[in-house]
Amino acid sequence: MSAAQRAAAPDWERLRLLAIEAMERAYAPYSRFKVGAAALVDDGRLVSGCNVENAGYGVTLCAECGLVSELVRTGGGRLTAFACVDARGEPCAPCGRCRQLLSEHAAPGMELAMPGGIMTIDEVLPERFTRDSLSAAQRPAPTPAHQEART
Ligand code: THU
Repeated sequence: MSAAQRAAAPDWERLRLLAIEAMERAYAPYSRFKVGAAALVDDGRLVSGCNVENAGYGVTLCAECGLVSELVRTGGGRLTAFACVDARGEPCAPCGRCRQLLSEHAAPGMELAMPGGIMTIDEVLPERFTRDSLSAAQRPAPTPAHQEART
C-alpha cells in the first residue's frame, strides 16, 4: 500500500463513534431500533444522521436520510466512507432504499462498513439505477403549450 493510499484510508473508528453519537439521538419509539449513520465526504467533512420515526410508520426517516440531508445542506460533495450502527454500536446494513439514496452521492469506490466487513457501493448495490439510466431512455422535454405550433 502506498503512502497516498494509507493517508486516504478512512478512520473507521472515528466514523463508528460519530455514528454512535447520532444513534443516541435517534427517535425510535415505535420500533425501538435506534440507528446512527456517519460518513466521510471527499473534502474531509464528516456528516451524520439518526432515524426519526413517525406514528404514520411509512413516514419514518432512516438515519441515512438525515445524513444525506446534512451532506447537501453543508455543501454537497461525494461520500467516500460510510458507517451505520445499531443500538449496540454494531454495524447495521443499510436498507435497500438507503443504498439507492447513498449511491446518488457516492464517490467512485465508496466504502461501507457492513456487518460482514468493508464493502464497496458497487458490491452492496450492483447494477444500480443512476442518472445515466434516466438519460438513456428519456423522452424529450415537452414543449410548453404556449410554444406549440398551431396546425
Ligand atoms: N433504519 C434506518 O435508519 N436505516 C436503515 O438503513 C435500516 C432501518 C431504521 C428505520 C426504522 O426506524 C428502524 O430502523 C427499524 O426498521
